[in-house]
Amino acid sequence: MTDPFVNAFREAAPYIHYLRGKTLVVGIASHLLDSGSLNALSADFHLLAALGIRLVLVHGCDTQIARFCPQNQRNHAIYPQRRIIDDNALQFAKHFCGAIQFDFQAALSLGVARSPQRPPRLRLIHGNFLSAKPLGVHGGVDMQWAGQVRKVDAAAIEDALAMQAIVLISPIAASLGGQSHVLSMPEVAAELAIALQAEKLVFLTQENGIRHANGQLLANLTAQETHHLLSEKHFSISEQAILTSALHALQQGISRVQILSGSQNGGLLRELFTRHGAGTSIAQDSFMNVRPAHERDIADIITLIKPLEERGILLPRSPEYLAAHIHEFFALEHDRQIYGCVAMKTFSDSPNDAELACLVVSPDARDGGFGELLLEKVLQHARQMGKQRLFALSTHTADWFLERGFQAASAADLPAQRLAEYQSNGRQSKIFILNLNT
Ligand code: ACO
Repeated sequence: MTDPFVNAFREAAPYIHYLRGKTLVVGIASHLLDSGSLNALSADFHLLAALGIRLVLVHGCDTQIARFCPQNQRNHAIYPQRRIIDDNALQFAKHFCGAIQFDFQAALSLGVARSPQRPPRLRLIHGNFLSAKPLGVHGGVDMQWAGQVRKVDAAAIEDALAMQAIVLISPIAASLGGQSHVLSMPEVAAELAIALQAEKLVFLTQENGIRHANGQLLANLTAQETHHLLSEKHFSISEQAILTSALHALQQGISRVQILSGSQNGGLLRELFTRHGAGTSIAQDSFMNVRPAHERDIADIITLIKPLEERGILLPRSPEYLAAHIHEFFALEHDRQIYGCVAMKTFSDSPNDAELACLVVSPDARDGGFGELLLEKVLQHARQMGKQRLFALSTHTADWFLERGFQAASAADLPAQRLAEYQSNGRQSKIFILNLNT
């Protein structure tokens, strides 16, 4: 039995590798700034920065304005996601955003002090990286100092990130007329992600993710499904604002938006470094792709096949075997995550034959036709190589192969090389053949 820590760390390794050097924009909902969440979140930001992830943080201030300047209502009829900002609310927002910058500095310093190894001090940079324009008058209602993003100074942010600093952005920016405007956190986060061509846009909220009207947490959504859900109108105003900005970011080329709880300890780490994540992940589409496997996929393939090897469904394959035979494998991938694999073996003593082996679809992606997609890939590859017969040996999946045109065969049909292995491993697998000429 491997130590759960070792397993978790190994599972995280491909994600660490993939995220190193990438830019992550994290939108932090204003609810989270009031609670003790800031210290826990800062510890995670510290860890992400130490792993070489370039972080741009944006915080909100809507909850605080609602609490301390209650006269500043939303323009419910025309622009429900935005609050009218009068002089008083603007002054309050400036004070709050100034104070929260110091709170962030303090929370990030705490991360350093806690570590026995005293890692190098983290730089936190904030500045005038955004310009704003007034939101204007909507439905006869003047939104006053409520604004929207006019431009993002991406080059200046890139410079700050190149200094290995975390960039912190508050939702206030000046217009060219020299006046400050209060912006919407989700809009700022989306515009930053687009301007910086960020790898991911993450929203940390009070909720665990996005729920269906029936309360079910939705782990994966496409942009189209999100559009549809938004039209059902069961979301809070802050959720609507986040989903609208998420869709805008996806339309503008951000490949993935993740929405999760910022108050759940370690939620951000789980979302970024585990297969199953922690909240809701929204991608432009749900495209699954079968491609040749690479060495970097070995850890994911081991995670997929290990439980099946333990149950005797698959023949055991060591990491060394996988490293030596990875060129025989195909991986089923979606958004850089591996959901399945299959191998095609060939035989030097029987050049017309090939064997389909190690066919697996992850339990969370089964019954979606992906097993069939992997089989199609092998058939295509075998035909391209001029093979005439495709074998499959199985202890538990006989019907799956029979339903897809394979015929039951006997050991005598196997290539000599494969027969020797069949006789020595004692698994007594059932043997199936598909004639590729028909
Ligand atoms: N026996 C018979 N039918 C099965 C089996 C099985 N063991 N497992 C799934 N099916 C059926 C499903 O019930 C479903 O049937 P339906 O369409 O009538 O509802 C259908 O197969 C689903 O087909 P796909 O969506 O194309 O297949 P999926 O993506 O779920 O993957 C696979 C099928 C690969 C068998 C998957 O269930 C799996 O990973 N199983 C565990 C590993 C395994 O048994 N691999 C085969 C080892 S043998 C070898 O590699 C040569």
